Amino acid sequence: MEILHVAAECYPVAKAGGLGDVVGALPRFQAELGHNAKVVMPMYRTEYLYSHHWEVVHKGGANLGHRWFDYTVIKESTSAQGFDLYLLDIHGLLDREKIYGYEDDVERFCAFQIAVLSWINAWDTLPHVIHVHDHHTALIPFMMKHCFGFKRLEGVPSVLTIHNAQYQGSFSWDKTMYIPHWDSWKRGLLEWNGSINPLAAGIRCAWNVTTVSNTYLNEMKISSNGLESLFEYEKGKCSGIINGIDYQVWDSSHDTYITNHFTASDVEVGKEKNKALLCERFNLDPQKPLFVFIGRLVGEKAADLLPQVINDSFRYLGRKMNFLILGSGERNVEEKLVHLKSISMKDYEVYIGYNESLSHLMYAGADFLLMPSRVEPCGLNQMYAMRYGTIPLVRNTGGLVDTVIDVDNQDGYGITFNDATVGDITHAIYRALELYTQIEVFRSLQKKTMKLDFSWNQSAQQYVDLYHNM
Ligand code: ADP
Ligand code: GLC
Repeated sequence: MEILHVAAECYPVAKAGGLGDVVGALPRFQAELGHNAKVVMPMYRTEYLYSHHWEVVHKGGANLGHRWFDYTVIKESTSAQGFDLYLLDIHGLLDREKIYGYEDDVERFCAFQIAVLSWINAWDTLPHVIHVHDHHTALIPFMMKHCFGFKRLEGVPSVLTIHNAQYQGSFSWDKTMYIPHWDSWKRGLLEWNGSINPLAAGIRCAWNVTTVSNTYLNEMKISSNGLESLFEYEKGKCSGIINGIDYQVWDSSHDTYITNHFTASDVEVGKEKNKALLCERFNLDPQKPLFVFIGRLVGEKAADLLPQVINDSFRYLGRKMNFLILGSGERNVEEKLVHLKSISMKDYEVYIGYNESLSHLMYAGADFLLMPSRVEPCGLNQMYAMRYGTIPLVRNTGGLVDTVIDVDNQDGYGITFNDATVGDITHAIYRALELYTQIEVFRSLQKKTMKLDFSWNQSAQQYVDLYHNM
């Protein structure tokens, strides 16, 4: 089967979060199952672009409203990622340093989607499936069905995977001209709450819709940033497929970002060495358990609660632990976390920014990972942490429910709690400290988590089954 993934991110080319990790891994596992999986994404100015060889495979042009643009599709020459990787360049619009965050993101991603379809339209034989990810590419199923210029693509099955329904990419009707000449009777498919809502349009028009865990799928009917009734209405074509993790990249025994490798049999020594490096670099006390948080500093991740949680933990539980935070996001959360450094007694540090290699060292060297998310469609951090013997503290939501079982249950291995409140999170930290004092139990849990199977094998097959059914 020929499968074309269309996405805004793909690790290691460009990544802002878990979407990049998934799009960088899933196609390779589909290729290993014998399918011809490909990825097309925007050509940003990233290091990967300059350090790899590319060949031009197509040049074309299209209109974005009244503005004509030329585009070029280039292909990585060696298929280094284990699948065919295509970058689409639109000079002036896509070739920038960051993935998102520009004022003209609507224009950028509309142009990208139009160019992708214009390119596919020129193929001799069409792909068997077009698989789009999140709102940046979610207008594609609508365009394939209802834009007159893409009629040839109408019969190609499409899948939309929703990695996060909080972000829907809405824009106002005065930008309608960015959608190429379309059947105006279909206006209702684009509309949600008075705006053009790409995610809603994708849910209505894609042949199938998936979300990245079963629990999140159920939650979306109750809470999905305004789309609840749509999920209820379209539930017949929606299913949940949990993400896997890519052990080629994320495994303590051969991770290329760390130097002290270890397996479950030498976890104690291995983690001690990695922790020592972290503690030295951030002036922390290696004798104390180390709690880390890695992620976007936004409300969804409950990052706003971290300053108070850290304060309360020190005050009520004693200065028995270290905290190390890595992330960037909302300015006021960043400021509060930085400000907190003044109270550190070799037990608190924060790194504001994005740092791939530091994140790997943190999974490897930490004892516990904090993940109090308010919303977590799947979550990869908790699975990465466990592969490195780091015990996750997670809120019972979304994919965290599907991947972490509380240690108080039979076969449990993590610490879970119900509410994203300072009280619940601090109590989870208290439970973690108790666990840490029972060092034999703690070590056996570390070994247990390292052996859990979160590989892509089963999920990659589930996607293939879904395509076959279409
Ligand atoms: P989300 O996609 O919602 O941010 P996930 O748990 O699915 O959450 O994936 C987050 C990914 O981004 C993980 O690979 C995590 O290690 C990485 N990540 C998040 N913030 C940072 C950061 N500041 N520096 C390095 N890696 C980060
Ligand atoms: C999103 C979600 C996260 C998920 C990731 C990959 O960014 O917030 O929970 O793991 O996508 O699917």
